[in-house]
Amino acid sequence: MVKPKGWNWKEANEVLWTNPCEESYYYANKWKREGKKTILDLGCGLGRHSILFAKEGFDVTAADLSQEGINYLNDWKNKVGLEIVTKVCDMNQLPFKANEFDCVWSYHVISHTDTAGFLVILKEIERVLKPGGNIYFTLCSKEDQAYKEAGFPVVDSNTIMKTDGPEKDVPHYYVELNDILDFLCNFDIVQIKHVNNCFFGGSKQNRVHYYIEAILKEDGLHSCNV
Ligand SMILES: C[S@@+](CC[C@H](N)C(=O)[O-])C[C@H]1O[C@@H](n2cnc3c(N)ncnc32)[C@H](O)[C@@H]1O
Repeated sequence: MVKPKGWNWKEANEVLWTNPCEESYYYANKWKREGKKTILDLGCGLGRHSILFAKEGFDVTAADLSQEGINYLNDWKNKVGLEIVTKVCDMNQLPFKANEFDCVWSYHVISHTDTAGFLVILKEIERVLKPGGNIYFTLCSKEDQAYKEAGFPVVDSNTIMKTDGPEKDVPHYYVELNDILDFLCNFDIVQIKHVNNCFFGGSKQNRVHYYIEAILKEDGLHSCNV
């Protein structure tokens, strides 16, 4: 399994990464109406979604490998007077009890691994999520230009290593739809979107991700056919 590496948040665009994504408002509303209470923001970064969910009344735990990210969120939550549990940790080995969370939110995070690592992380998420719990997460698509064309160093047949910016030496794992369907045998899939973010940061891009909403089945965990 490739060595994990957190983001170098000093190199990132603070304005961009402190503004919650569009879907977070939708899920805050949906999960509240469904009576969900506890959310793990896995790979919280600077904490934009943790802050949003905490403002909406959820009990939020924010976890990230980057001490810088967690420091930023600690300052932010104190400034706005919100209670958020923060943890520096590796998503390969989560320091949480089984069945601890109603929801896991993980936005542009779980792809920061390789093929072997992804399976470990998925098992960890299945462990900490309650049966019937919700997950919303994103994965990099094999249609993305960084996988298809960019010439980054190859880690395994699904994984490349980024070589500059805030993601320097951070692995990126890429999938296609059938991989996701195989991996998620313990979940009922609600929806999967395949989105090309074709203009971003002021220029034409070909950034392609899967956006996945699923619910952990209630009948126990099984080994998936992967
Ligand atoms: C693209 S950023 C997304 C941050 C946040 N989810 C957001 O949407 O603002 C990816 C985050 O994943 C974290 N990360 C990478 N590998 C990790 C690991 N093994 N365990 C925990 N966090 C990790 C990085 O440090 C970074 O903060």
